[in-house]
Amino acid sequence: MGGIPHDHYEPKSGGEKWLHKRLPVVGLLYDTLMIPTPKNLNWMWIWGIVLTFTLVLQIVTGVVLVMHYTPHVDMAFASIEHIMRNVNGGHMIRYFHMNGASLFFVAVYAHIFRGLYYGSYKAPREVTWIIGMLIYLLMMGTAFMGYVLPWGQMSFHGTAVITGLFGAIPFIGESIQTWLLGASAVGQPALNRFFSLHYLLPFVIAGLVIVHIWAFHTTGNNNPTGVEVRRTSKEEAARDTLPFWPYFVIKDLFALAIIMVVFLAVVGFMPNYLGHPDNYIEANALATPAHIVPEWYFLPFYAILRAFTADVWVVMLVEWISFGIIDAKFFGVLAMFGAIAVMALAPWLDTSSVRSGRYRPMFKMWFAVLVIDFIVLMWVGAQEAKFPYDWISLIASTYWFAYFLVILPLLGIIEKPDAQPATIEDDFNAHYGTAGHGADAPATTPAE
Ligand code: HEM
Repeated sequence: MGGIPHDHYEPKSGGEKWLHKRLPVVGLLYDTLMIPTPKNLNWMWIWGIVLTFTLVLQIVTGVVLVMHYTPHVDMAFASIEHIMRNVNGGHMIRYFHMNGASLFFVAVYAHIFRGLYYGSYKAPREVTWIIGMLIYLLMMGTAFMGYVLPWGQMSFHGTAVITGLFGAIPFIGESIQTWLLGASAVGQPALNRFFSLHYLLPFVIAGLVIVHIWAFHTTGNNNPTGVEVRRTSKEEAARDTLPFWPYFVIKDLFALAIIMVVFLAVVGFMPNYLGHPDNYIEANALATPAHIVPEWYFLPFYAILRAFTADVWVVMLVEWISFGIIDAKFFGVLAMFGAIAVMALAPWLDTSSVRSGRYRPMFKMWFAVLVIDFIVLMWVGAQEAKFPYDWISLIASTYWFAYFLVILPLLGIIEKPDAQPATIEDDFNAHYGTAGHGADAPATTPAE
């Protein structure tokens, strides 16, 4: 599939021509900013910009925090208190960074579920999707390691639990765990390396974001209809699209402003709402908190990790078949990573010829259940591992896998999709009327 035909940058002045021959960077920026974008994009297409903004926010606030933070087991906790009390604006910068992590995950979950509903993962956007999944994994790693740095009770004992999971890998688990921690238990070597990686990974994410954007600029954006932009001529493409600048820049900035109102209210009035009070107690290896819970954004996958206990028949069966190599603990770890892996495989598991969920009556229902399932998993992940929560997490985890491995492949075969609009222009006109934009109007050009 070729790119969407549109006008490209033409250097005009002598200086521009001189630079363009040597480094076509202005052309690159121009083409990126003026990229034809489907004109029917709705509010679910704001999250990419919110994510980009949040990544920058996290890097900027993080770099300032590092100026005052000390990655030493005896000083880390006190250095955070120093930031909160003595550093000018320190509490604000820390609260921005702390809650920025939550904003990042709110946005990424909205972005992922948008992709799942509108079939943005489907061909030809599989590479965009897979890079997104890599970004998501790195985000989880970064957030996890960042949470260790304040060296509070949850930091310490949460790290012990999560790194302990690697110990469940048969034969080599303990060696991996020791290698990760740089010692046999959580301590100074772990704090040092987590600090180092927590600083490094956001830049790796930034690099992947550039590739992510490159990938969907190559295929063109998806849109709520899932119908592709017409590419037969520049004029036809221009009837389905508008240039990114200024139309979508303004739309995205407006959305960002609204989100900032909510974000600033949280940072200003309830900055500790999403955190755990135990992390304001300095780490103490000898006093394990009664109830160790991860941050809210890990809860759905934490629930899946804990759902498959030794008394579940699938776990027993697998343990028996594998001669005990895959025990309940390792099964849980496999299930947790498997839950993300099946999502990454969505482009190949979804067999429907129709891209957007808007025109898939049965899919819509199952997808709604998936959204509820995700919320249930998040809730149950914070509950104690006892009846009825163990049952709820088992059922909810099973649905997660069933959605991707059974329902998505089957729906493509048994579902009868609704009629789709022939073009994006038709969909747009159906919503906003044809005044000035309709089939009778002269073909709109990006410059109009
Ligand atoms: C730091 C994290 C990320 C950033 C900054 C980012 C940025 C963007 C931007 C700017 C867009 C285009 C407009 C929009 O949809 O808002 C986009 C599209 C897309 N993203 Fe992400 N993204 C991130 C993570 C992810 C993740 C985790 C996934 C899921 C696996 C994902 C999957 C997609 C897909 C499939 C599209 C194509 C949708 C389309 O073309 O309309 N992204 N991303």
